Amino acid sequence: MITSKELREKWIKFYEERGHVNIGAVSLIGDGTTGVMFNVAGMQPLMPYLLGKKHPMGTKLCNVQGCVRTVDIDSVGDATHFTFFEMMGNWSLGDYFKKEKTRWSFELLTEVFGFDKEKICSTVFEGNDAAPRDEETAGYLKELGIKPENIFYLDKSNNWWELEGTVGTPCGPDNEWFYPRHDNPCCDTCDVNCDCGRYVEIGNDVYMQYKKLEGGKYTELENKNVDTGFGLDRLLLFLNGLDDGYKTDLFIGAINHLESVSGKEYGKDEDATKAMRIIADHTRTAVMLIGDRNGITPSNTGAGYILRRLLRRAIRYCKNLGVDATVMCDVAKIFIEKIYDEAYPLLVEKEDYILDEILKEIKKFEATLAAGLKEFDKCIIGMERKNAFMKEKDPSYIPETMISGKQAFRLYDTFGYPLELTIELAAEKGLTVDEAGFNEAFKAHQELSKAQAQAAKGGLTEQSETTIKYHTATHIMLAGLRKMFGTGTEQKGSNITEERLRFDFNLDHKMTPEELAELENFVNDVIAKGIDVVKTEEKYSDAVAAGAYGVFNADSDDQIVSIYTIDGVDKQICGGPHVKNTKELGTFKIKKEESSSSGIRRIKAVLK
Ligand code: ALA
Repeated sequence: MITSKELREKWIKFYEERGHVNIGAVSLIGDGTTGVMFNVAGMQPLMPYLLGKKHPMGTKLCNVQGCVRTVDIDSVGDATHFTFFEMMGNWSLGDYFKKEKTRWSFELLTEVFGFDKEKICSTVFEGNDAAPRDEETAGYLKELGIKPENIFYLDKSNNWWELEGTVGTPCGPDNEWFYPRHDNPCCDTCDVNCDCGRYVEIGNDVYMQYKKLEGGKYTELENKNVDTGFGLDRLLLFLNGLDDGYKTDLFIGAINHLESVSGKEYGKDEDATKAMRIIADHTRTAVMLIGDRNGITPSNTGAGYILRRLLRRAIRYCKNLGVDATVMCDVAKIFIEKIYDEAYPLLVEKEDYILDEILKEIKKFEATLAAGLKEFDKCIIGMERKNAFMKEKDPSYIPETMISGKQAFRLYDTFGYPLELTIELAAEKGLTVDEAGFNEAFKAHQELSKAQAQAAKGGLTEQSETTIKYHTATHIMLAGLRKMFGTGTEQKGSNITEERLRFDFNLDHKMTPEELAELENFVNDVIAKGIDVVKTEEKYSDAVAAGAYGVFNADSDDQIVSIYTIDGVDKQICGGPHVKNTKELGTFKIKKEESSSSGIRRIKAVLK
């Protein structure tokens, strides 16, 4: 049996013996430079050095770095996926390259860890316009003794590593290492490409020699770097002859505890097993995120929202398992006191705080669950009534079976229902949820909060005169659209630059030239009238009662919000800022009207 502690030590020792310096780990919370919320890979903090900056510790580095990845959250519940994991890494910053790296990875796997070289599989990049087929790496792998039939050439979606959604970051083709969890192929063609779960990726050597540019282009870096990441949590399972990552020393304490509290046996009943894995995994990640040196707490935005989702998902699985959600505090305690006390001493220091935050979220969620359930039932009853009514009028009417994105967003925003929860509750009733609609409502809400935060922070100084004018123009335009197409017309997105406004709204058809002219005239009339734009502040509920509208969703009815009124034209809840009088806007001209997504139109317009 090899423990997680021993494995960390072995990794560092192996690379130190080969001239690497252990640089230690950084915070799990992203530093905001790449737009990635959490640290998803050991290379993330090393980005400037991979791009050419000189690292103070030299050109050969190694460490063990905690990472949080939530993109695979739906896979958590199987035997090998985790939202938090430790990545054992090593780097060459323009130092050694493919020859040394393939040898060291192979030596470590076979000689130090005792992997069977007959069973090791490796995948390399098949090549494309950006970079050639990686025959060089494949050649070294064969020389080392990896069977040719165990080497696979795969495309960019498999064997190219880069940070999704970023530009200016280092990247390149990679060489991934796979090993089978057991010797029972699911079919005749069961190999690394099979999705049966037998082959598990244990490590990845990235040959980072490119920089990602705008528009999916790449440019070669001066330095040829190596970026290696091996998952500690997964390696442990193989090294101990296990077929399940939740049976390693990292998790077994948590699992045993969940078994004893629930009276159910791990590995026996599929649902209970899945629930135990999810509770253990999500609780562990929550402990790490709250207890981090830049620790976060559950909230409704950004990283805090991800943490909230993890905790709330775990709480729901406690219910499925038939245990009180406070069991998560016991599980957290096991991780803090027994598993990570040595490697992450800060967790021990922050133990009371971590447990308190988890408990607070459990209490909060339980209270909102009950309130939200009533709201959810109301949605269903409303839908059923409407369906029955329509059916009576028209027997060929196809009943609605989808909860709208707006309703799902209200459940999220007012009652703290994660989207997944609404989807699950809907599925129990044979219904679906408009996820795209939810995401749109979510985005619109975020944009507004951002605008409000900016307005609150710096007022006019944060925005230019031009963008303020455009912002006021969107209000008048929306008022015109609502006059023409009804008050069901709402803002679905807005983006303003120095040059133009872009505005999305719901409408079931392409606007005709006559409609566009009508809208343009409406806005220009309001400008010509020179109406004052008046700001007031009121309680949210009073504002709504007085006819104010907006994409804004208040935290409570009593929240004080600002309202901008253009007398006789428009009254919107909005963070501002706006011009003082509509005559400041000049002349309004629509440049383009097009589809943005299903049922959503987009207008681009300018002020002259
Ligand atoms: N950056 C590489 C990975 O995350 C090593 O897999």
